[in-house]
Amino acid sequence: MQIEKTIEWVKTGKTKGVSRMIDQTLIPYEYKKIDIDTTDKMYNAIKTMIVRGAPAIGIAGAHGVVLAAMESLGEKNFKAETIKKANYINSSRPTAVNLSWAIKKQLDIIKNSTEPDEKIIELLIENAIKLENEDIEINKKIGEYGSAVIPKGATILTHCNAGALATVGYGTALGVVRSAFEKDSTIKVFADETRPRQQGARLTTYELIRDGINTTLITDGMSAYFMKKGMIDVVVVGADRIALNGDSANKIGTYMVAIAAKYHDIPFYIAAPKSTIDATIKTGEEIVIELRDRSEVIEINGKSICTSEVNVINPSFDVTPASLITGIITEYGIFKPEDLYKIFE
Ligand code: MRU
Repeated sequence: MQIEKTIEWVKTGKTKGVSRMIDQTLIPYEYKKIDIDTTDKMYNAIKTMIVRGAPAIGIAGAHGVVLAAMESLGEKNFKAETIKKANYINSSRPTAVNLSWAIKKQLDIIKNSTEPDEKIIELLIENAIKLENEDIEINKKIGEYGSAVIPKGATILTHCNAGALATVGYGTALGVVRSAFEKDSTIKVFADETRPRQQGARLTTYELIRDGINTTLITDGMSAYFMKKGMIDVVVVGADRIALNGDSANKIGTYMVAIAAKYHDIPFYIAAPKSTIDATIKTGEEIVIELRDRSEVIEINGKSICTSEVNVINPSFDVTPASLITGIITEYGIFKPEDLYKIFE
């Protein structure tokens, strides 16, 4: 079955193309695709989370470099101008390493190519489309490996959205769910709401219900309650950046879920592609955590839920230490955190 892409490079009319993406800020109220055709718009799309989820923003970064090159065409210093704009896009969100990973892949083409500037743009487009297609294939492999650790009839708890919407298609943590569901349609999912942006409520339940998967929405404070009641068999979440020792950054609240899972002796898995592993950092201490606007905490759907005088701190991610992680499910198999370095061998 052909998978519909969350984000893709599309040729339009006589132009070289645009980045077409689902506007995730509108889901579940509206399903709409928008075209991004400038680097400023791409910076904004990533920053405001029109496109979100580590692998999806990686592809947005790859598209952003194409746009940067298109805008720099005709400039005397084509390569330097493109790199400057690419670095600007890279500064849009700090935690998910896939953004800088994909931008670097594109910049390597620019730096190493001796082709005319027009031709370099063609090469960047080709590479961006290759990365899109690879992402889907990688997620299917993650799903296949991961489905082996899902017991028959299991209830899987997930946090945030690591699904088709967070990737080009199929998903990482939800790729595991999808693959398990293909083999056993009796599996169930408990989805944490995931405050403040509610990716679990808005996006994960939207995806899973569309696929006919039995899904229960719970608020973030409820997961330990259901673990104690014996209603959760396994936890599977995505990741935004994984250190070499297996410490994994994911959406704020993941750490709390991992602690509760450990206490109740429930396996806790991270599902993520190799591109989410940052081989330049040894531990999670080095991961930069994005701080976002206070309005995300004090408002729901644009309406204030508390007095405006209250203090707010809004870290978007936390780091789950390797000691709480049963395994890291990748396209190369499942690694114990202490063996993760072997993926680079
Ligand atoms: O702030 P977001 O919505 O971009 O955060 C996304 C997450 O934390 C996901 O769980 C993570 O990127 C894995 S996506 C396959």
